Amino acid sequence: MKSEGFYKLSVEERRKLIIEAGLIDEGDARVLDNSLSIETADKMAENVVGIFQMPYALAMNFKINGKDRVIPMVTEEPSVVAAASHAAKLCLPEGFASSSTSPIMIGQIQVVGLKEPEKARDMVLKEKNRLLEHATGKDSALVKLGGGPKDLSGKIITTKRGKMLIVEILVDVRDAMGANAVNSICEHLAPEIEKITGGKVRLRILSNLAVHRLAHAKAIWKREIIGEEAIEGILDAYEFAANDEFRCATNNKGVMNGVSAVCLASGNDTRAVEAACHAYASWKGKGKYLPFAEYSKNKSGDLVGEIELPIAVGIVGGATKTHPLAQLSLKILGVKSAQELAEIMACVGLANNFAALRALSTEGINRGHMELHARNVAIAAGAKGKMVDEVAAQLAREKNVRVERAKELIYELGKKS
Ligand code: MEV
Repeated sequence: MKSEGFYKLSVEERRKLIIEAGLIDEGDARVLDNSLSIETADKMAENVVGIFQMPYALAMNFKINGKDRVIPMVTEEPSVVAAASHAAKLCLPEGFASSSTSPIMIGQIQVVGLKEPEKARDMVLKEKNRLLEHATGKDSALVKLGGGPKDLSGKIITTKRGKMLIVEILVDVRDAMGANAVNSICEHLAPEIEKITGGKVRLRILSNLAVHRLAHAKAIWKREIIGEEAIEGILDAYEFAANDEFRCATNNKGVMNGVSAVCLASGNDTRAVEAACHAYASWKGKGKYLPFAEYSKNKSGDLVGEIELPIAVGIVGGATKTHPLAQLSLKILGVKSAQELAEIMACVGLANNFAALRALSTEGINRGHMELHARNVAIAAGAKGKMVDEVAAQLAREKNVRVERAKELIYELGKKS
């Protein structure tokens, strides 16, 4: 699909283009205006009184493992979609390389009240095969798809309330996010664990720290395209984040600008992915909170960016099925598996991080932010159609991005036309 100048088109023109490119059809286009019905919303959460809408945008220029992808993003923050699209353009024609591990989630069963926790753990491990078989009986659909319980282990934690046994079960959840499947399996196993150990089972819940379910992305930004200064700036910015947790939190927030926007657009659980990524950054650093992405220079002096994130997302179940726009996102993305979706999200996270570091370490982030913020201010002041861009451009030129000034400009332009 021709993506050059996509951002300059009107909403209608953009829709026409994606219909012509076969990404969506006329029926889908209607969903863009009228996505979630109040009846469906009422079934998704409690005490519903309305529907909160957010901008639904498309990031362009992404080539991932040789395939062009148009990427739906839901975000309230100006510049996130533009930044991702620009970063993706700068690493063309190669684009991103991505890969991922199997969708294995961890379920945890907490056992308390044990006189001899170590002995209890050994007893559980002796029955591992039987327990795995018992757990497998819980979700035959998952097993038919090649997933299901795969392994079981036990660890002792020492707490203020004494020692506890934590039984951990690894479950391949295939194309689901997996929370429901894993929680059900844990609950199903709990009585067996109590029988074996004589202890009391308390929590039976998945861990969001999905260390076995990793998505990896890599891109090379060529020196002749982005320039020496940007490469040195990004490397310095990376070192800053790698050695200062206050900077690292902001750096990683920039990654999540991309990851969470795709997560939301696909109807996935943003809180689960956020929790996983931040916890993983500390777990991997053995207690030191690390930047999600790493940067280095290759022999040719180009910038190599790499990211590895635990991304537990699904393409079946939950809001991915009930929210019509989430369904449309999966169609636009053209993903066939949860792993593919996670890989795309890792690429977008890397792109947003690269774009932020490049802007911050060279001209600063404010100009780009201000230009986009100016559009919001122009709209808030009442500008419509072409006037939005004219007013925004003038506000940015004057470095005076205020609603009062925007109103004056609208009045002046109105008189001219
Ligand atoms: C703003 O949403 C994200 C940034 O602060 C990220 C960063 O500082 O790397 C620009």
